[in-house]
Amino acid sequence: MKQLTDQDETEILDLFLGMYYFQFLASAVELDLFTVLSRSPGLTREEVAEHLKLEIQPARILLLGCGAIGLLRKEGDRYFNTSGAERFFSRAQPANMIPAVRMANHIQFRPMARFAEALRSNTNVGLQEISGSAPNLYMRLAENPPLEQIFHEMMSLVSFGTAAFLAATLDLSRHRRLLDVGGGEAVNATTLAGRWPDLNVTVLDLPTVAETTSARLMEQGMSGRVTTLGGDCFSEELPGGFDAILFSRFLSIWSEEKVRGLLAKAARALPPGASLYVVDALQDDDEMGPPFVAHLCAYFLTLASGEGMARTWSEWTGWLEEAGFTSVSRQPLPGGMSEFLIEAVRK
Ligand SMILES: C[S@@+](CC[C@H](N)C(=O)[O-])C[C@H]1O[C@@H](n2cnc3c(N)ncnc32)[C@H](O)[C@@H]1O
Repeated sequence: MKQLTDQDETEILDLFLGMYYFQFLASAVELDLFTVLSRSPGLTREEVAEHLKLEIQPARILLLGCGAIGLLRKEGDRYFNTSGAERFFSRAQPANMIPAVRMANHIQFRPMARFAEALRSNTNVGLQEISGSAPNLYMRLAENPPLEQIFHEMMSLVSFGTAAFLAATLDLSRHRRLLDVGGGEAVNATTLAGRWPDLNVTVLDLPTVAETTSARLMEQGMSGRVTTLGGDCFSEELPGGFDAILFSRFLSIWSEEKVRGLLAKAARALPPGASLYVVDALQDDDEMGPPFVAHLCAYFLTLASGEGMARTWSEWTGWLEEAGFTSVSRQPLPGGMSEFLIEAVRK
C-alpha cells in the first residue's frame, strides 16, 4: 500500500470523501439508476429524474456525484453508465455487485460510524443500530428477516466464486460426508455436491438460516445429498460421522479462544486422516494490511461479533498444529483479497 506523504493532497482528501463516494454509489443503487440507464442509455437529467421519481435538484446532485466518481459519463446533455457501472451495478448483469452494496449500506454503514466507540469499549457497540437483543450480528439478523435476507444475498454472491474455485481445486473424491459449519445458504455445499456425486454435505447453521436453506434445497431438488442442521456450534460438540469439515468465512469472525475451541472440536469430531478445510482472509505477516482485510477486522469488532480478527498465517499454522492437525497448507483464492483456502489433515 502506498505510504502517503505531505504532497499527496488528493489522496488525503479521498480519505474523508470516501464516505460520500460510497453514498453516491449506494443511493444510485437503491434508486436503480444504473439499471435504468442500462435499459435506456442516454437519458437527460429530466428523464432520469422522472424514471427515478426524483425532483430535478436532487437528481442533478446524484448525477453530479456519480459522474464525479466515474460511474457515469455524459455526451452533450445525455447520461450513460461507464463500463464499470454497467458491469457491477446494473441489474441487467446477472452477476452484479448490488447485494454487496446493499449489505454495506443497510447493515454496515450506520454501525460503522461507531467504530471509535467500539475501539474504546472493545465491544460491538455498532450492533445497537440494529433492533433486537441478540449478542452478535448473525443472531440479531434472525430478529430482522429483511436484513437477514440482504445479508445472505450478499454472502451467496461472494460464495458463488469461492464455490466454483473450491469445486475446481479440491479433490473430494475420497470423502463421503462433509460438514459445512456456518454454511449459510449452502452455495458451497450444493456446488461441491454437484461436483462430487458420492459426497453428502450437511450444512450446520443457526436455526432460522438452516430452515430457510432447507426450504430452498427442497425447491432446488437438492435436499437428497445436501441437508441442513440447525444449531449453535459453540454450545455443542460438532456432530460425528464426517470425514471432512469446512469452515468457510466463519472462523475469523470469532475470538482466539473460540477459534481454538472450534478447531479442537473439529479434531475431536474427525477420524485420523480426515480433512479440514478453512476459507478465510489473512492479514499480512507485518500486520500492515491489506485494506480489504483491515476493513473486515473493523467490521468484526464494531458490528459482527465484537471479538473477531483476520489472523496471520503463523497464527493459523500454530493453532491448527496445536489442535491436532498436520500437513497444513494454503493457497490464495482468486480475486486478490488476501483470502485463502487452508487445508489440513487430522493426525
Ligand atoms: C460470514 S457467513 C459465511 C457463510 C458461508 N460459509 C459462506 O462462506 O458463504 C457466517 C455464517 O455463520 C453462521 N453462524 C453464525 N453463528 C453461528 C453459530 N454459532 N453456529 C453455526 N452457524 C453460525 C451465520 O448464520 C452465517 O450463515
